[in-house]
Amino acid sequence: MKFVTSAVAALSLATCTTSAFLPSLTQRNAPQTTELFASRKPFISGNWKLNPQTREEAITLATEISEGITSASPESDVALFVPYVFIESTMNACDGKYFVGAEGVCPEMKGAFTGAVSASMLNSIGVQWALAGHSERRVIFGESDEYINGQVLKLLDMGMSCMLCIGESLAEYEQNLVGSVCAVQLKKDLAGVSKEQMSRVAIAYEPVWAIGTGKVATPETAQNVHKTCRAVLAEMFDDDVADSTRILYGGSVTPDSIDELMAQEDIDGVLVGGASLDSTKFNRIINFQA
Ligand code: 13P
Repeated sequence: MKFVTSAVAALSLATCTTSAFLPSLTQRNAPQTTELFASRKPFISGNWKLNPQTREEAITLATEISEGITSASPESDVALFVPYVFIESTMNACDGKYFVGAEGVCPEMKGAFTGAVSASMLNSIGVQWALAGHSERRVIFGESDEYINGQVLKLLDMGMSCMLCIGESLAEYEQNLVGSVCAVQLKKDLAGVSKEQMSRVAIAYEPVWAIGTGKVATPETAQNVHKTCRAVLAEMFDDDVADSTRILYGGSVTPDSIDELMAQEDIDGVLVGGASLDSTKFNRIINFQA
């Protein structure tokens, strides 16, 4: 984690009563943090996947998570990526303290695509962030790099922000292909994205073998991969983009692993699955100590 507060950020923070978002901020008014803050503000995010099972449970969880963000919390962006049907209820429950994002988007804007949700639809209800490229979408739903690239471009063209997930399988990990898999995914998924648009992209490195398995990558392993990804971004764009893009780690993150992960120079945040469904655990992750 490398967080340098800019003069603009210092000014804006001076007017804030809490170090997190002002409670009254709506999603639309929430700070465009990548513009307000100079360098890699920590980003703690949760991915609810196909959970929880009812709107009531979603509201309870969303409310408990918002209560865990206090004036003593680290200066971070916090986001929850939730099922489409829970987005508006979660926004109402979040008290303006975190972003509520979508778990995916259709690369098409309208037409005969039954079951799909467009960037325009999400934007119209105030959604700013969406995931793209999660390994479960790649593996279970067969989303290709080309499809993922379409999602990324559509979100960015709509003025929205995108968290692009990348990561290798266990077989690729065992064959020492981590760096090349991540490089290929970054190059294919970010094809056609401009340097300027990269200020609205965050990368989540999620080794598939660490997702939902309890096998968290060691902080050193994750740090090395993040550094490699940053070098790929420098090659694709330039050093400024490489240095300012936030790269998050995902895969079995828990309260036990968060502090050491966040202490790594190139780990700017986390994308949390299972532990984001337990407010006590997720609130400890939000309130990391590094
Ligand atoms: P877990 O934290 O449950 O391993 O899930 C990680 C993940 O897939 C987040 O997107």
